[in-house]
Amino acid sequence: MGERYTPSDPPRTASAIYPREVCGAEKGVMPLSGVASRRLEGASGLRVRPALRSDIAAIEALERASFSDPWSASSFRSSLDRPEVHMTVAEWRGEGQESGVVGYMVAWFIGHEGEIANIAVSSGWQRRGVGAALLDEVLATGRAAGVDAIYLEVRASNAAAQALYAGRGFLAVGMRQRYYSDPPEDALVLKWEGDLSPADSGA
Ligand SMILES: CC(C)(COP(=O)(O)OP(=O)(O)OC[C@H]1O[C@@H](n2cnc3c(N)ncnc32)[C@H](O)[C@@H]1OP(=O)(O)O)[C@@H](O)C(=O)NCCC(=O)NCCS
Repeated sequence: MGERYTPSDPPRTASAIYPREVCGAEKGVMPLSGVASRRLEGASGLRVRPALRSDIAAIEALERASFSDPWSASSFRSSLDRPEVHMTVAEWRGEGQESGVVGYMVAWFIGHEGEIANIAVSSGWQRRGVGAALLDEVLATGRAAGVDAIYLEVRASNAAAQALYAGRGFLAVGMRQRYYSDPPEDALVLKWEGDLSPADSGA
C-alpha cells in the first residue's frame, strides 16, 4: 500500500458485484462484526462505519501521517464515488479522548475477488484493536458478498501490518520487487481465502 494503486485509475475490473445494501448507499452506521465488537469492549464509543465525504480531510491527514507516498484527498474522494469501493472509518465518539476518525480502510470487491488498498490507524490509537476491527469488518463484508479471495501488498519491512494480516489468515503468495519507492522496497503479496481466524472460530 502507499503509492501502488492510483484510485483515479479504474481497478482491473469487469462489473462490480458489490451489493449496495451491504456497502450502505444511505451511509448508515455499520455494526461491528462480533469479533471486532469483542475486541473493542473497552472502548464503547468506537465504531466502524462507511466513510463519508465529510471524513475525507481526516482520512487524508491520517494518510499523510502514515505513509511516505500518500494518496491525495481527491483520490479518496473519487474512490468514494466508485460502487465497487468499500471505504470505512473507525470513529471515536466518547469521553476522555477527542472525538473523530481514528482509522480508515479502503478495499474493493470485483467478482469473487477483493483487494485491500489502504489501511491506517492513528498512532495514538494503535495496538488497541482498531486495525483488527477495520480488517474484520471488510472480511465479513467480503464473505457476505461472496468474495472468496482478498489480496493486498505490504512492505517487506512492515512487521506490524504483517502480524495483523497473519492473525486473520492471510498468507504470502508472492513478492513484487521494488514495488514501493521512498524508500524503495519489495512488497509481499498476501492472500486471504475466507479462512476463519482463531478469533472468528471462537478458539
Ligand atoms: C498496521 C496498523 C494498521 C495496525 O493497526 P492497529 O490498530 O495498531 O492494530 P491492532 O491493535 O488491531 O492489532 C491487531 C494485531 O496486529 C498485530 N500488530 C499490530 N501492531 C503491531 C506491532 N506494532 N507489532 C507487532 N504486531 C502488531 C498484533 O498481532 C495485534 O494483535 P495484539 O494486539 O492482540 O497482539 C497500524 O500499525 C498502522 O496504521 N500502521 C501504519 C500504516 C500501515 O503500515 N498500514 C498498513 C499498510 S499495508
